[in-house]
Amino acid sequence: MLKKTILGVFAFAAVALGGAMVQAAEEYPHTDQQDWSFAGIFGTYDQNQLRRGFQVYREVCSSCHGLEYISFRNLHEEGGPEYSEDQVRALAAEYTVADEMAEGGEREGVPADRWPNPFPSEQIAAEANGGKAPPDLSLMAKARGIHMDFPWWVFNYFTAYQEAGADYIYNLLTSYEEAPEGVEVAPGLHYNEYFSGHFIAMGPPLSDGIVSYADEATPETLEQYSLDVAAFLQWTADPHMVSRKSTGFLVILFLVALSVLMYLVKRRIWRDAH
Ligand code: HEC
Repeated sequence: MLKKTILGVFAFAAVALGGAMVQAAEEYPHTDQQDWSFAGIFGTYDQNQLRRGFQVYREVCSSCHGLEYISFRNLHEEGGPEYSEDQVRALAAEYTVADEMAEGGEREGVPADRWPNPFPSEQIAAEANGGKAPPDLSLMAKARGIHMDFPWWVFNYFTAYQEAGADYIYNLLTSYEEAPEGVEVAPGLHYNEYFSGHFIAMGPPLSDGIVSYADEATPETLEQYSLDVAAFLQWTADPHMVSRKSTGFLVILFLVALSVLMYLVKRRIWRDAH
C-alpha cells in the first residue's frame, strides 16, 4: 500500500515536471550553449578571439553601440586583447572626443579616454534607429542571461557556469529569420527567433564575409563573428575575470591547507582527554 502511494506520488511529480518543462520549452527559445574558452573555474580569455571580437565590434557594432565603461587603455591591460601601448595610442588618436577645455570643444583621443559614443544623445540615437536607442554594450553580457528549466540550472553551481551573457549574445546574433507565415513585421522592426517578443529594432548586423580577419585560418562567417564579438563583450563586462579566478583558486587552496592544519592542531590538543 505504502509502496503504491510512494510510486503514485513519484509518477505524479514526473508528469507535472514533464508538463511544466514542455510548457516552458514552448515559451522560451532553445539556447545553443557554446564551448567558451573562459568557461569553468580555470577558463581564460583567448587573446586572439578578443582581438577578432574587438575588430567586429569596432567595424560593425560601434556605429550604433557605445562602450561607456571601456577606455582605450583597457585594451592594453593584462587578460584582455593586450594591444601594445603604441597600438592603443594610435587607435585613440583616430577618434575625436568632446572636451570642453580643448579649443573648439574637441580634441584627438588619448588612451585615458572612454570609448566615444556614436551618438551625441540618447534621443538622437533613438531617432536614428526607428525609436529605439541602441543600448550601451559594456555590461550587456552581465545584463542578459539565458533561460534554463529546473533542474538544469542547479548544475550551474557545480560547473561554475557564468557564460550565459555570451551565450545570449551569440544566440541573438545568429537567430535572425524570415518571420513565420502570417506574422506581420512592422516597418523598422526585424524578426529574431531568440529575442523576447521576436520583434527587434536592430537589423541583422552581421553576415558572412563582412569583416576581414588578418588570420586567414579563421572562418569569416556569421557564426564565427558572433562567437568572437560575444567573447569580446564578455571581457568588457568582466575584464578582471582571469585574475579573479586565479586569486579565488589560491584562496580555496589556502583554506583547505588551513583546515587540515587546524584539524591536526585539534587532535593534538585533545590527545590526552579521554
Ligand atoms: C544600425 C545600428 C546597429 C548596429 C550596427 C548594431 N546594433 Fe545592436 N541594437 C541596435 C538597436 C536599435 C537595438 C535595440 C533593439 C530593441 O530593443 O528592439 C540594439 C540592441 C542590441 C542588443 C540588446 C538586445 C536585447 O536583448 O535587448 C545587443 C546585445 C546588440 N544590439 C548587440 C549588437 C552587436 C554585437 C552588434 C555588432 C555585431 C550590433 N548590436 C550592431 C542597433 C544596432
